[in-house]
Amino acid sequence: MEEVVPILYDGELSLLDQRRLPFKEEWVRVSGAQDTAQAIQQMVVRGAPAIGVAAAYGAAMEFRRASACGDLDDIEKRLAVLLGARPTAYNLQYAVKRVLAAARRAEANGDDPALAAEDEARRIDLENRKAAERMGELGATLISDGDSVMTICNTGSLAIGYLGSALGAIKAAWRHGKNIHVYALETRPWLQGARLTVYELQKEGIPFTLIVDSASAITIQRKGVRSVFVGADRIVADGRTANKIGTYTLSIVAKAHGIPFYVVAPTSTIQLEKTDMALEERPPEEVTSIGGVKISTAGDAVYNPVFDVTPPQNITAIVTERGIARPPYQDSLKIMLS
Ligand code: MRU
Repeated sequence: MEEVVPILYDGELSLLDQRRLPFKEEWVRVSGAQDTAQAIQQMVVRGAPAIGVAAAYGAAMEFRRASACGDLDDIEKRLAVLLGARPTAYNLQYAVKRVLAAARRAEANGDDPALAAEDEARRIDLENRKAAERMGELGATLISDGDSVMTICNTGSLAIGYLGSALGAIKAAWRHGKNIHVYALETRPWLQGARLTVYELQKEGIPFTLIVDSASAITIQRKGVRSVFVGADRIVADGRTANKIGTYTLSIVAKAHGIPFYVVAPTSTIQLEKTDMALEERPPEEVTSIGGVKISTAGDAVYNPVFDVTPPQNITAIVTERGIARPPYQDSLKIMLS
């Protein structure tokens, strides 16, 4: 089965424009930190791990552009634009810091920092895809033949490469021959569920039903949903998990109905050393219009946080490429990352 590939690198970066999917498959070319940051900010590429990979290449391209004249401190300053592009996705901070550290190491050893930066970006890309493969397999063990599962946003190939994270577990279960049904939340306001998850499920041939976000409770109650699978944009030491707006609500609904709630994410999403959760808010127009068509006269009287935080007590397990962590996460995540 051929996977959807959202990012290609050939010295410059090609990004599958996820704003146009599912009806158009168009690519955007970027060649430095500034235009990569803009593409990330404008949602051309999205999903925390994919954002991290794009940012890693964006940083590497900046090193290459600047290597004739650039002092590493100057380049580091230019990378700040990447770090600010999507504040919640921890993978972005993780990837840019790794590329920068690789370049600095190379300089200290008398090697070419630009080459080292590019190698590191490729490594991060590969690690992501390997993590997706492993998480998918591990996550699939939590799904039984005949299960209906619910998911929010898009956590598939478009968000990480290879199978995906939460959607990867669902796809792996399907590929192992399990007969499953997916309830996909539409995911207002960017409709990643309705546009992107449905696109991936259809490519894979997995039976699904699309629901509006506010139909999660009745669907779990009436349709026999057995478990919920979500991704993550940032997980901190105690297991608190930032993910797409509505995930916290979904965790409460799952708990109220006594069904497991699983988070699937690579370890590059886990921030053990700090507990800050920078939650991105986006412009009011994303709520007051849909697909460029105005649907409300609310103007600026809009609150548009695009992520929320699910508390650890609502999370049954966290699946990463290194294993399945169970509560208390304070201990299990530390052991997993040691
Ligand atoms: O705003 P987005 O589309 O970047 O949000 C994406 C999500 O919330 C995903 O669930 C998360 O990044 C995990 S994807 C493997």
